[in-house]
Amino acid sequence: MVDTTDEWITTRTGIKERRILRTPGKATSDMGLEVVRQLLEKTGTKPEEIDLLICATVTPDTTFPDTANTILDKAGAKNAFGFDINAACSGFLFALTTGAKFIESGMYKKVIVIGADKMSAIVDYSDRSTCIIFGDGAGGVLLEPNTEGNGVIDAILKSDGSGREFLHMKAGGSLKPATPETVANKEHFVFQDGKPVFKAAVTGMVTTVNQVLARNNMTTEDIDWLVPHQANMRIINSVGDMLDFPMDKVMVNIHKYGNTTAGTLPLCLWEYESQLKKGDNLMLTAFGGGFTWGSLYLKWAY
Ligand code: UT7
Repeated sequence: MVDTTDEWITTRTGIKERRILRTPGKATSDMGLEVVRQLLEKTGTKPEEIDLLICATVTPDTTFPDTANTILDKAGAKNAFGFDINAACSGFLFALTTGAKFIESGMYKKVIVIGADKMSAIVDYSDRSTCIIFGDGAGGVLLEPNTEGNGVIDAILKSDGSGREFLHMKAGGSLKPATPETVANKEHFVFQDGKPVFKAAVTGMVTTVNQVLARNNMTTEDIDWLVPHQANMRIINSVGDMLDFPMDKVMVNIHKYGNTTAGTLPLCLWEYESQLKKGDNLMLTAFGGGFTWGSLYLKWAY
């Protein structure tokens, strides 16, 4: 489709495969629904027991209503409410922090947090600078009260709206509603100026990881797993190097899924779940459009 090579993609990004949701009529909510079904089955939870569902996504089924509502309806979670969070590739971090607060406050007992994006819906497959990167994917977690000190311990989240010029979608919002011209000009696709995003991503992730470590009187040696957003293998390697963190403790699956935006962090947790032990210290970190970024420290609870 575009002028590229496997060699360029592999060496510049580390990506070998991407998943595309091709079934006609299927959208982000259908991936989210599958996540909910698997979580409920695995934990022996009934849909009616869910209190809240937060869906991090930049590819909602429709601008409104939000995708969380649609997932809840499809899952038969009749007693829950839900909402979406739009923080691009940092969406899962923002949503997980928010969901944990609803548990910590004692307000709710079962909160599902999903990161889901059907990026193929907003990728221009004639733009080689983005189409080789993004894929479709979703993952999620069920949060419940914990009295053993496990769960989300701390997070530092950041936003800098001046970064929006480097990574955005030009049209389709209230600033520039859809017209025949915006469609003809391909303004309903992801636009990315990769180099400034790359640099800001490395700095933002390393800085906030160090801030979270310092605030919790920890060093990288106290962390069992680093869980970085999967945007580019070179970014992951740079973050690992700058933190002096051994790569065998860094979760990596970008080669299989590419950049699934809000999906990358929960997909990593899902993929490495069998290697995790109760009490393991995990540091999640992400950077994305907005700019948005941050790091989150959690203790694995099972
Ligand atoms: O997840 C949200 C946050 N996003 C990120 O963190 C992504 C950050 N950015 C990146 O990962 C990288 O900047 C990209 C993978 C997007 C691009 O890699 P790069 O090393 O920054 O390449 P570049 O954009 O500077 O382009 C270098 C060259 C250019 O050619 P010239 O001008 O040197 O002749 C591009 O036209 O590579 C060319 N190029 C390609 N060539 C073959 C760009 N894309 C491709 C391609 N195949 N797919």
